[in-house]
Order: sequence, then C-alpha cells, then structure tokens
Amino acid sequence: MRHPGVVATPPEIAQKIVDVALSPFDGPPERLRVCDPAVGGGVFLIAAARHLVGRGADPELVARHCLFGMDVDPAAVQATRTALATDPGDHVRVGDALGEGWSFRFDAVVANPPFLNQLESASRRDAGLARRMRERFGDAARGYADTSTLFLLAALDLVQPGGRVAMILPESFLAARDAAPARAELARRAQLTWAWRSVEHVFDAGVRVCALAFTVGAPSGPATVERAAGARFASLPPISVDPARLAGGDGWSWLFPETVDAPEVDLDVTRTLGAHCRATADFRDQFYGLAPFVLDDGDDALDVPLYPRLVTAGLVDPARCLWGRRPTRFAGRRYVRPRVDLTRLRAESSLGSWASARLVPKVVLATQTRVLEPVVDEHGDWIPSVPTITVEARAGRLWHVAAALASPALSAWALHHHAGAALTADAIKLSARQVTALPAPAEGRDWDEAAQAFAAASHASSEGDWRTQLEHVGQATTRAHGLDAPDLVDWWVDRLPRWR
Ligand SMILES: C[S@@+](CC[C@H](N)C(=O)[O-])C[C@H]1O[C@@H](n2cnc3c(N)ncnc32)[C@H](O)[C@@H]1O
Repeated sequence: MRHPGVVATPPEIAQKIVDVALSPFDGPPERLRVCDPAVGGGVFLIAAARHLVGRGADPELVARHCLFGMDVDPAAVQATRTALATDPGDHVRVGDALGEGWSFRFDAVVANPPFLNQLESASRRDAGLARRMRERFGDAARGYADTSTLFLLAALDLVQPGGRVAMILPESFLAARDAAPARAELARRAQLTWAWRSVEHVFDAGVRVCALAFTVGAPSGPATVERAAGARFASLPPISVDPARLAGGDGWSWLFPETVDAPEVDLDVTRTLGAHCRATADFRDQFYGLAPFVLDDGDDALDVPLYPRLVTAGLVDPARCLWGRRPTRFAGRRYVRPRVDLTRLRAESSLGSWASARLVPKVVLATQTRVLEPVVDEHGDWIPSVPTITVEARAGRLWHVAAALASPALSAWALHHHAGAALTADAIKLSARQVTALPAPAEGRDWDEAAQAFAAASHASSEGDWRTQLEHVGQATTRAHGLDAPDLVDWWVDRLPRWR
C-alpha cells in the first residue's frame, strides 16, 4: 500500500540538498553527524555517505558514526539498513520523529518529510496528534499547517547551534497563510542560506516543491541567500535578505522573482485595499450546505428575488459574469442556470442569514486564475460560490474597488508575493485577508477613470468594447499606482481570458 505523503526523492535531488547542507562544514568529515528524521529508503543518508567519503572520510567510519535516521515505517527502516553498505545499527530506527528524539544534537538534518495536507481527510492529523503538535509548536501547528512544516520546525531542535537544516517542502510553504507562523519562527531562530524552487514537477506526485537550507541560530542581520531553480538547479544570483522581511506576513515567494512570469512591480504598501473594502471567503460548510438547495432554471423563468443566481468561480471573468451564457459545475453537477431556492434554504438550513449577508452589492473575485478576475454584482442578487471571494466596498466605492482589483499591477504583485499557493505555478490564489492587504492605488483622477472604464467594460456587449475598456482600466490603475509601465499592461492584456 502506498502511504499518504510518501514519495521517494530522486537521488540527484537528495545529493544536491545534502551537498548544500554539508559543504559549509570544515574539519574532519567523519566527525559530522547527519540525520534524516523521515528516512524512508535512505536516499539522503546514501547521499550524505557519498558526500563525506568524497571528502576523504573512511566509508566504514561514516556508516558507523555519521549517519542517523528514523521512520515510522519498519519496512522503510529495513530498506535503509539494507541500502547502506555497512549496517548503521540502531542509528537508523523505527520511531515517530515528531514525538521522540535523540539524546544529542546533530550537525545537520536533511529530509524530504511527509507532505500531509490538512485540508484533505486522508492525510489529516488525528485529534490526539493535532493536540500534541499544538502543545509543542504553538501557533505554527494551528490551522491547516502541512505536516512537513512541523518536521522543519522539529529539525531546529535536532541540530546544535550553527548546525544546518536542509529540507524539501511543498511549494505552498512559501505562500500558504497557515505556514506564516512557522515562517516567522524560522526567521527568528535560523538564518536562511539557500533556497530552491522546482518550478516543474520533479517528483512523480502532483505537487511542486521547494527546498530551503538554514543555519540554526538567531540571525544578526541581513544575509546572503544562495538560490537555484528548476529540476537542474540552475543557479540564480544570490540576494541579500533581511530576517525582518522573512518574519513578515507576505510569504517567501518573492525569493524567486525570476521564476514568476510577471514583471516585477514596486508598489506603495502603506496604502492597502482594506481601507476601501472588506473581503470574505466561504468554506466547505457553505459549499456542502448550499448544494441541496441549488436547482437548474433551464427556462430562466423563476422569480429572481426568491431564486438568486448562484455564481461559481468558473462563471467569473474580469468585468463579466457568464451566468446563463455558459454552463457550470457545482458540487459534482452541471447547471445551465443555477439558482438557489432561498425560501427552502431559509426554512430548512442554518445558511439563511449567511445568504442574506451575501445578497448585497459586491465584487466577486475568482481564484486560481492567470490574472485577478473581479466582477461586480451591482444589484446584490448573486449568491457567490466557494471558492470565490466576496468583496464589499465602502459606500460608493464598488466600481473603484473592482477596478483596483483588476489592475495589472496587482496581478503581477500577487504572482510575485503569493506564488506557489495556487494549483498551477502560473495562477493566482489569494485568501480574503491577502485581498485586503493588497496595495491600493492613490485616490484621484486615474482611479476614478479606471472605475468608470471598469463599469463600461462590465456593460460591454462586444469583445472589442470589453477589451478596449479593460485596457483602459489597466492603464489608468497602473498610473494610479504611480507606475509608468506599458510592458506591464501588455503582459496583462496577453493574459486576459478569451471572450467566452
Ligand atoms: C516523503 S517520504 C521520504 C522518504 C525518503 N527520505 C526519501 O526522500 O525518499 C517521508 C517518509 O517519512 C516517514 N514518516 C511519516 N511520518 C513520520 C514520522 N512521524 N516520523 C518519522 N517518519 C515518518 C514515512 O514513512 C516516509 O518514509
């Protein structure tokens, strides 16, 4: 049986990560102690042995003194013992690396820990483990923090001060909101020295990865981070990184600007959209709770106030709602004109007040898209479906907020700051909180003009008109961000969805 989160690391990738972790150490290589707390078949320990022997260490001494590992799976431990030329004895043993440890500290910890997405039931921590993890790691283990994040934090306690930790992680670690407390803890307790983003899929699992290496010990100030990208570890120029920035809330995707297909934009982050709107996301409770009350109004005959339209993310394009023009899927079913039976919803479920709160003028923002895609529900008669984000503007600012969200500047910004959160490398996915934290344009004529153009695009009846008006939105909002960047608008226009 294949266990959740268990994917073997290709040997050349393990070797690279081990070399990064061990190269900085001077002195006799056979003195170094290296641990893989999720050892699997031993690929990292084999790579460590190769590295140390390559530096002149005696292979026997390496196997007996330098290599340590643990795995919950006895078969994995046996496989590692067999794979190493000399049996490492109980240095490689069965155990839970998140629960037990060693009586001494290592020079380096290297690993590809299990990736266990807490949003999926098959990989979710049980209640007992979740409690123990919260007791041990505090905020970093709350919410939906992936289990790999906990291995990274645990590794900080396994190495001695000045020791190295190098680990493969899901790419989402760079951007996920639930990893923010862990990122902040790491920034406080260790110095990031090396970072790699795979960009492509390098494992036979549907997940993109990154790897990070740290020197353990509180950083004293900005330091140089070596960087690489892609399956062949193409090197990127080193950058100087301030630990305060790593500890901040805007993720670590900006470590790899070259890997993002978007122009870099420098925006004033002291003004945020939160001053103009509030954003809310719905979750599985609303999604599954709504499903029994959705019906298909094939003839478009139902009384609108009692049967509001259900607008899914697939029906949203920038300044266009495709409801009734395109079929859509919701909760596994196809609909031509999905509507919600409000009377029954109010009578038979607890979602009545939720629906009333959603039935207001708003911007609906799609997610997992190549550019940010806002559309305005002028009359407040749409029920937005998960995973769209509902954005309510301050009085009189609806079109302004929609235009601001549509800005090329914000799509480029979001790709750079939140890369890795979406299902595909090239898509944007923001949480509601990240939406309100986006930089706002300056008040004034340009933003007003953009708002008017966004309204015009929303009422356009032809593709040509829609595109012209959207281009206008792009230019005016870019100016309102103080940018003179025709390339940015061109880049964005190229990424706009086709007229459907
Ligand atoms: C992604 S696999 C990596 C295996 C191997 N190190 C490699 O890179 O090919 C993760 C390994 O972690 C092990 N594992 C899962 N939970 C663990 C835990 N709490 N303590 C120790 N090992 C664990 C799994 O059995 C699996 O062998």
